Amino acid sequence: MAQQVRGVVAHKKGEPVTVETIVVPDPGPGEAVVQVQACGVCHTDLHYREGGITDAFPFLLGHEAAGVVESVGEGVTDVAPGDYVVLNWRAVCGQCRACRRGEPWYCFNTHNAAQKMTLESGQELSPALGIGAFAEKTLVHAGQATLVNPAARPEVAGLLGCGVMAGLGAAINTGKVGRGDSIAVIGCGGVGNAAIAGARLAGATTIIAIDVDNRKLEWAKEFGATHTINSRENDPVEGVQALTDGNGANVVVDAVGRPETFTQAFYARDLAGTVVLVGVPTPEMRIELPLLDVFGRGGATKSSWYGDCLPSRDFPLLIDLFLQGRLPLDKFVSETIGLDDVEEAFHRMERGEVLRSVVVL
Ligand SMILES: NC(=O)c1ccc[n+]([C@@H]2O[C@H](COP(=O)([O-])OP(=O)(O)OC[C@H]3O[C@@H](n4cnc5c(N)ncnc54)[C@H](O)[C@@H]3O)[C@@H](O)[C@H]2O)c1
Ligand SMILES: [Zn+2]
Ligand SMILES: [Zn+2]
Repeated sequence: MAQQVRGVVAHKKGEPVTVETIVVPDPGPGEAVVQVQACGVCHTDLHYREGGITDAFPFLLGHEAAGVVESVGEGVTDVAPGDYVVLNWRAVCGQCRACRRGEPWYCFNTHNAAQKMTLESGQELSPALGIGAFAEKTLVHAGQATLVNPAARPEVAGLLGCGVMAGLGAAINTGKVGRGDSIAVIGCGGVGNAAIAGARLAGATTIIAIDVDNRKLEWAKEFGATHTINSRENDPVEGVQALTDGNGANVVVDAVGRPETFTQAFYARDLAGTVVLVGVPTPEMRIELPLLDVFGRGGATKSSWYGDCLPSRDFPLLIDLFLQGRLPLDKFVSETIGLDDVEEAFHRMERGEVLRSVVVL
């Protein structure tokens, strides 16, 4: 029997989201229905609402979630009803060319539920990142539900499902920041501050936070920034060079994703250093760089999709570090809100008042 629950839907580009009745089918083969306990508001939800990701409206938003498995379909063996899980958007297939090369974090054929959740009218919904968890219950592929230690409360654990994992992984997995390295992070929202926390965990000694908002820079210090630069007041490239003996940082993470921040990242790194782009650009954005600088500065410019994470490897490990007091995941939770407050949470995010608003159900 399909169930009816409440969920947050974006119907049209740029229009406020609304809470609607969502029809959630029983799980089919390989699927699971998860009772959502908490779901963070990520900037990517706003990108969906703005039509910046695809045109496949209506969207069921929300994708940074933790909850309890309610039921599973045929053939599901990895999770069972009652299990405490964090939802992920990288249920790897094990068969595509990336998986076969032993690089499953690039999996090109990740699993999502085969059935569709719908509105009461029967209109099919596009779940954000194949999850759709601003809802009391959601239908996912069972591989999208990763078991973690239930000692971590849902509003904290769920954040690993997207932005915090993306930031931590951008520094640790993609940027390969290590002991004694210098790193600069441009854009210190949930994603950027997670990159800062990751850099501290990995042993970086110079951690430079860059933002246009002083509130974000204050928070960045709590996550491990050793220096801060307000790039509205000071040139960030010169600032990073001044803090790194004139050289630039070993790794620069762009957690904004705009041509000007990417260019800053490109020039703020040391020769042979690494630029990591984790912020998501929009389709009309362009960059122009002297090709000689691309060659002459050496190193690498890399994109980081979901922090190059492998959920089954990384979620339990990061939850353990949190429970041991070595990773302050709880500091990302600025406020807990209800399903009806998502639109207002978008505005608070735009005004820079929060790192994460988390819907608690
Ligand atoms: N690659 C991935 O897998 C992945 C995953 C999650 C989110 N994201 C993307 O990461 C980006 C950040 O997400 P978030 O949730 O942290 O957003 P956020 O809105 O919480 O944070 C963005 C931060 O950037 C700052 N900022 C804006 N313009 C700036 C500029 N020109 N220079 C310096 N700082 C600037 C803002 O003040 C804010 O602190 C978004 O584009 C989001 O879509 C990517
Ligand atoms: Zn694959
Ligand atoms: Zn996200």
